[in-house]
Amino acid sequence: MKSIGLYSHDRSLYPLLSSALGNEFSFRPESMQAGIQRLLQQENCPVAVLDLRSTHDDVEESVECAHRLVDSGVTLIVLADDGQRMKANELVESGAFGYCRRPPSIRELRLLLRKACEACEKANPDESSEAYSGPAGVRHHMVGTSEAMQQVHELIDRVADIDASVLIVGESGTGKELISRAIHNAGSRASRPFVAVACGAIPETLIEAELFGHEKGAFTGSVGSREGFLEQAADGTLFLDEIGELSPYTQIKLLRVLQQREFSRLGSNRLVPLRARLVFATHRNLDEMVAEGKFRQDLFFRISVMGIEAPPLRDRAEDIPQIACHFLNLYTRSFHKQHLSFSPEALEVLKDYSWPGNVRELENVVQQAIIMSNGNVVHVDHLPWKIRESMADLPEVEDEFPSGSFERQLRDYKIKLAVTAVRDNNGNKTQTQHLAGLSSSADPPCRAGARIGNSRNGRGGTNSAVRLTTGRFRASRRH
Ligand SMILES: Nc1ncnc2c1ncn2[C@@H]1O[C@H](COP(=O)(O)OP(=O)(O)O)[C@@H](O)[C@H]1O
Ligand SMILES: [Mg+2]
Repeated sequence: MKSIGLYSHDRSLYPLLSSALGNEFSFRPESMQAGIQRLLQQENCPVAVLDLRSTHDDVEESVECAHRLVDSGVTLIVLADDGQRMKANELVESGAFGYCRRPPSIRELRLLLRKACEACEKANPDESSEAYSGPAGVRHHMVGTSEAMQQVHELIDRVADIDASVLIVGESGTGKELISRAIHNAGSRASRPFVAVACGAIPETLIEAELFGHEKGAFTGSVGSREGFLEQAADGTLFLDEIGELSPYTQIKLLRVLQQREFSRLGSNRLVPLRARLVFATHRNLDEMVAEGKFRQDLFFRISVMGIEAPPLRDRAEDIPQIACHFLNLYTRSFHKQHLSFSPEALEVLKDYSWPGNVRELENVVQQAIIMSNGNVVHVDHLPWKIRESMADLPEVEDEFPSGSFERQLRDYKIKLAVTAVRDNNGNKTQTQHLAGLSSSADPPCRAGARIGNSRNGRGGTNSAVRLTTGRFRASRRH
């Protein structure tokens, strides 16, 4: 079934198209701006429908969004009412695939969509390659083959078709949202809606209405009735991101919905069954929040039937070249640049950096490098300064008497030993590792964001990895 991105401010359009054309196309409702990046990177939706409606305040925003989609190579069909016909024609002149009058004739739109998909397949015959496939041939759109990522793929496959709640934890930028989409895409709900909600981004006063929907007049300013995210997700997946940001009040409301598997819109007594599958994510340590009384324990148990940890990028440095090349290909195309590749040194520098902002930071750095490059090759010089900063930025190792708990003292001592050893070996981490007799198991101990010790994630616990101040600790390059 073909996935079609659907950009519209009109919430009634998705159910309409889905019920009329859902046996042939799977529509992915997206918000105008925020959904674009996502669509380009994660969803294999080279065809999209964009709705230009006169009644919407910000037609210009929609037009800009349309231009960005067209520029990025999306095969775009514009839906427009008569008031926006001129704009729709202009868009077709500047590269949109076609224009369909609003309200759409289903027959006309079906034909146009078929043609768009055909054109798109002809233009990108390799688009259906296995490049981003995970195990079992399922498209997870996630790049990286490290052991840590293989484990993530395995878990995704394991949870995809069971309806248990999944909690994805991990630092910001590690790919939590991508994992949640992969879970959705790998399961039987793949053709149903996927609705992502950034809980932290919605004001406390609005979140209830946004989640549960509301009836007309339910609160001051609620002009019409509206379905909330829980209803929009229908029998698809609702991804509640940054769940740790929910207020205690909303936590109770959500708990009740999860327990009773039904909810009602604000201002209504009608109970609506919860059909969506729920996936949660947070960069916070919910265990700690529960201990501090900031997150309800009962809710924590409800949402974390299965847990998936998105590993930080520094713990899977072997994935860095692959992910960097993935972004390089992705953005050279959308920046209309010629074919580019990384010099071996540039890749080495990328591999050595500690990536405190994880994959999101890598994505950003690759975009900058593409803009800075001139020829066919991205050299070290095209990378931002912070990535190539050298030995000069190693922290001084002070000789002060250690203080704090025994664990703390031990950790500080290990950091000092490692910094000194890397310095003594002119930044050669492999040599340091060898000479210091440290195990060469998963990673060299003094990789940027170095670790000594054997915990994989370094979160709490006496066995925590020792990180040499991520981002600040740099060993000099091996040339
Ligand atoms: N394994 C991966 N392969 C390709 N892109 C990735 C990968 N992990 C993350 N990304 C990209 O990095 C960015 C941040 O990912 P996201 O899922 O939003 O992270 P998080 O939700 O953990 O903050 C997104 O643009 C996403 O597409
Ligand atoms: Mg996120």
